[in-house]
Amino acid sequence: MNFQTIHLLVLSALACDAYKILLVFPFPSKSHAILGEGYVRNLLKAGHEVTYITPYPRDPAPNLRIIQVSQHDFEEKINSTFTVEKLMDYSFTVMEMFNITKSFIYTANDTVANTEVQQLMLDPQTHFDVVVAEWMITEIFSGFSGIFNCPLIWSSSMEPHSWILPLIDEIPHPAYSSNILGLFEPPYNFVQRAINTSLEIALKVIKWFVTLIEEQIYKEGFAAAFKAKGLVQPSLQELRYSAALVLGNSHVSSGAPLKLPQNYKAIGGYHIDEQSKPLPKDFKNILDNSKHGVIYFSLGSMAPSKSMPAAIKNGLFEMFRSLKYTVIWKFEDEFQNVPDNVHIVKWAPQQSILAHPNCILFITHGGLLSTTETLHYGVPIIGMPMFGDQVMNIQKAVHKGFGLEVKLNFDTPKNLKAAINEVLSNQKYRDRVKELSLIYHDRPVSPGAELVHWVEHVVKTKGALHLRSQALHVPLYQKLLLDIIFVSLLLFLGFVFFIKYMVTRCLKKKIDIRKKTL
Ligand SMILES: *[C@@H]1O[C@H](CO)[C@@H](O)[C@H](O)[C@H]1NC(C)=O
Ligand SMILES: *[C@@H]1O[C@H](CO)[C@@H](O)[C@H](O)[C@H]1NC(C)=O
Ligand SMILES: *[C@@H]1O[C@H](CO)[C@@H](O)[C@H](O)[C@H]1NC(C)=O
Ligand SMILES: *[C@@H]1O[C@H](CO)[C@@H](O)[C@H](O)[C@H]1NC(C)=O
Repeated sequence: MNFQTIHLLVLSALACDAYKILLVFPFPSKSHAILGEGYVRNLLKAGHEVTYITPYPRDPAPNLRIIQVSQHDFEEKINSTFTVEKLMDYSFTVMEMFNITKSFIYTANDTVANTEVQQLMLDPQTHFDVVVAEWMITEIFSGFSGIFNCPLIWSSSMEPHSWILPLIDEIPHPAYSSNILGLFEPPYNFVQRAINTSLEIALKVIKWFVTLIEEQIYKEGFAAAFKAKGLVQPSLQELRYSAALVLGNSHVSSGAPLKLPQNYKAIGGYHIDEQSKPLPKDFKNILDNSKHGVIYFSLGSMAPSKSMPAAIKNGLFEMFRSLKYTVIWKFEDEFQNVPDNVHIVKWAPQQSILAHPNCILFITHGGLLSTTETLHYGVPIIGMPMFGDQVMNIQKAVHKGFGLEVKLNFDTPKNLKAAINEVLSNQKYRDRVKELSLIYHDRPVSPGAELVHWVEHVVKTKGALHLRSQALHVPLYQKLLLDIIFVSLLLFLGFVFFIKYMVTRCLKKKIDIRKKTL
């Protein structure tokens, strides 16, 4: 046997455990792409073969096939909808919200209709062992698991919520669960529970409306591939509830201790590389040489800072100038007369900055990636939430005691200065974030290893049917025991009437007897 055959043998032995995995992460947002990258990195490292559907170009790697689906129109829409001014006063109308929800679904259509994606589905040589798709408002991508006849895993980018949990279990109980936009933790009073219940019903109704568009896209987009494979196209309703698992980018250190089914796995933090990359030289110099510590300020990638009103921009700039701390500000605009202690950068290696011991505070919009990273590295925060789950993430940070909130408005510079002084002079924020960081890290294995484990588990067990929640197939009236309560009531009433009847009968008899004897 020569070296080459041995090499081949070893390779094929290894290949036995290498699975073919389809990753569907087409949502055009930088932070969602980072979550997709987390899957790519961890699964490639474990030796698997990955096909990755993404809107962004990416460096090639062995065992990786990239299918780039451009989402230009959607990106433009997001950019024009989410301007800082709009986010500042939360001025979204119901119609706009509905439009945004719809555009999520149309963007899914762009992915399914993409030529390369269609080719992938039509190719008779292509097989997958499992599909991992990011859940973003729609379940259209469950079609891929139907086409490739393999298990499906949803990746959820946020805390578990009442749109994703019913796909594997049931709606979180409105009497004691906080929702994705919720600001308070239980116990809730009567009015709050009433609001919660109506909110859940409203969400159901919105979902029902968009379902009609979804069905159509699913039918049209996947029809050719099902036909080519000689398969009967199942209904979307069937596929959408077929997921083996939800892998959630959440963890109890940053979220609420919700009641969850066995097939929800919280792997929050998997996107963070365990060895943080070394800092580029210019950043390293700034952080190493800061006498009083570094404040890192970034409002994420969704709302471009260019659209920030000039008064706030300049106010912030002057406020930073007056601080003794060093400030690294991630911002896409130019400034004149930049003082020594302020560094304005268009791009920043966020994780490596947070990992540096001189980084003492993180001012953030509160996206889940940022709040997760801050717990990973143990840095207190000041949050300026703008949209969606950010509000809740920051409220939770405040509630948990490792941060403060400052609203984004024309008083921001003044309020932010007060908040900075409070967080940096009061030891309690630092102590608390260290405590939570310990909870975050104290898991049996790292979140990246857990990701790989559960994906492999689903393949090995052919869809992990043993983890599925019984609640999925139980109708609401049975969950609320309405039928049992109804029948019990009937029985009870029947019994009462029966007793009453017997008693009156007996009494009547007695009276009759008495009458007779008299
Ligand atoms: C949307 O905004 C991001 C971040 O500012 C930018 O990189 C991207 O090119 C914009 N996309 C479009 C289509 O305008
Ligand atoms: C919603 O979308 C429709 C068509 O796509 C558009 O005509 C309408 O102006 C949008 N409404 C809002 C409030 O953005
Ligand atoms: C989905 O995309 C295809 C191809 O671009 C288009 O023909 C179809 O009308 C779209 N469906 C919906 C519901 O927009
Ligand atoms: C219930 O109400 C509270 C307070 O209004 C809110 O924070 C929470 O998110 C709500 N939960 C649900 C499931 O709607």
